[in-house]
Amino acid sequence: MRLENKVAVVTGGGRGIGKGISLKLAQEGASVIIASTTLAPAQAVAEEIIQSEGKACAIQTDVSDFDSVKNMVAKTEADFGTIDILVNNAGGSAREKMTLFADSEESTWDFILNTNLKGVFYTCRAVINGMLDKGQGTIVNIGSVAGMIGLASQVDYSAAKGGVIAFTQALAKEVAPEGVRVNCVSPGPITSDAGRNIPPEMKAKLAKSSLGQCTGFGHFGDPSDIANLVAFLASEESKYITGQNYAVCGVMNLGLTDRLGG
Ligand SMILES: NC(=O)c1ccc[n+]([C@@H]2O[C@H](COP(=O)([O-])OP(=O)(O)OC[C@H]3O[C@@H](n4cnc5c(N)ncnc54)[C@H](O)[C@@H]3O)[C@@H](O)[C@H]2O)c1
Repeated sequence: MRLENKVAVVTGGGRGIGKGISLKLAQEGASVIIASTTLAPAQAVAEEIIQSEGKACAIQTDVSDFDSVKNMVAKTEADFGTIDILVNNAGGSAREKMTLFADSEESTWDFILNTNLKGVFYTCRAVINGMLDKGQGTIVNIGSVAGMIGLASQVDYSAAKGGVIAFTQALAKEVAPEGVRVNCVSPGPITSDAGRNIPPEMKAKLAKSSLGQCTGFGHFGDPSDIANLVAFLASEESKYITGQNYAVCGVMNLGLTDRLGG
């Protein structure tokens, strides 16, 4: 097991991609602290890990609230002694109504930026000194292909995730000399719970859109596609890798996909 005796915090780990990451890190031997706004699903994932002889607990945390994050970090350090791995997964763009930028509202911008970007600042700020003092630690941020290529109707989310990628690169440069690594995994469309509020007519539109076709595989990814890479980046197997952003999206980030021959 690659993460034996490690302590990992996974934000938003109660469902979707975060659940996949929590289960994978636990399988690899880590104690997993699932920090999420919604406690019941996080507790259910912790229970699933414990049933399989793993170690886990759930803590109600809002990553867009610095006091809440500081409490979570203090409680984790008190109960588990340290934090070796931080996975910043909480976030998302899913909303009932996607709008063009021309119709966008400041309140939505604030909500998306606070959850996806400022939340990463809060959690990293709360753990970084502990990692620097120990001279080791790994942070894996969950970005998005939206932050690499920009998605229409998701200007706010694209800006926030682009910020997460640049944040990853800059912080990695600062902390590499002390042995702390920071990387980013940027998923393309992943089948998760995030789409639960999207109305059926928009789902039908999505399936027909280039977003439904653009991965090259003809289907979306699933949380394990992200979790496998996160586990590698959290482990010593990736000890020479930092400041990198990995797109996990088939060929979605590469532009034209038409096959003109044949
Ligand atoms: N699903 C996709 O297609 C996709 C694609 C690219 C990137 N992503 C990114 O992957 C991550 C996970 O996405 P998902 O699809 O699993 O989402 P999801 O909505 O299924 O799950 C998100 C989880 O985060 C928690 N959460 C939300 N706001 C929070 C907050 N302020 N504090 C703490 N917890 C909070 C929710 O309770 C939930 O458990 C997000 O950062 C998202 O932007 C997802």
